[in-house]
Amino acid sequence: MLAQPEYQPQIITLEDPEKVAYFVVTQIIALVNRKANAVMTIPTGKTPERAYELLVEAVRKGEVDFDKVILRMLDEYQWLKRNDPRTFQNQLRKLLINPIHFPNIQFQTINSYPETDSPKEADRYEKLISATPSDIVILGIGQNGHIGFNEPLSPFDSRTRVVQLSDNTLAANKKDIQRHGQYTPEYAITQGIGNILEADRIVMMATGESKADIIRQALKGEINTDVPASALRTRQNVLFVLDSAAASQL
Ligand code: PGA
Repeated sequence: MLAQPEYQPQIITLEDPEKVAYFVVTQIIALVNRKANAVMTIPTGKTPERAYELLVEAVRKGEVDFDKVILRMLDEYQWLKRNDPRTFQNQLRKLLINPIHFPNIQFQTINSYPETDSPKEADRYEKLISATPSDIVILGIGQNGHIGFNEPLSPFDSRTRVVQLSDNTLAANKKDIQRHGQYTPEYAITQGIGNILEADRIVMMATGESKADIIRQALKGEINTDVPASALRTRQNVLFVLDSAAASQL
């Protein structure tokens, strides 16, 4: 790999997951109050759930107006049915989109459905999002260092594409995606690391002891594709918001 510039991300360590959620929501509100038509890439997973609850409260209280914001998905399983609650789209609708009555037309989604031609869908999404890079990308981190579904060995310049989920990710998500008698997704479409790095600002959220080792590797280990999140050190304006457990090995 060519020599990359290396930057030190800003790291904020807070007491607990509640404070992490609150801090990230404050960042989002500040951005939208500064730029009403901000483009935001948003993740799914356990980590951001509380932040979405707090964001819904803030919108309801009129502390921020999402009328002109564009929300876009970071990634999505492939070949789950339209009404399957396991799709990231349905999870985001339940947690955030529906409660704030967010306009459908401003929600940029990746289709999952069995009738979807995944490579074509990935190309469609790539064209849609590369026209306007995100103002902010909110991320979680997998225990294997993935960001989005960019699993280890994903190139740092990768774009939106179909990916096969690693055994590590399948095991970590087992409880959420394995349903008796139902198809277990093995593929996904994800924004590439290149798409993520193109954003104006990147905010990584991580909480809990189970993320401590990979957070250490991402921030202190070598920058290489074995740990996709280490790519975040190749650009500026990256913020890690950690609870004390996730930061415990730094
Ligand atoms: P989690 O997932 O928030 O459920 O830990 C994060 C991820 O896998 O990116």
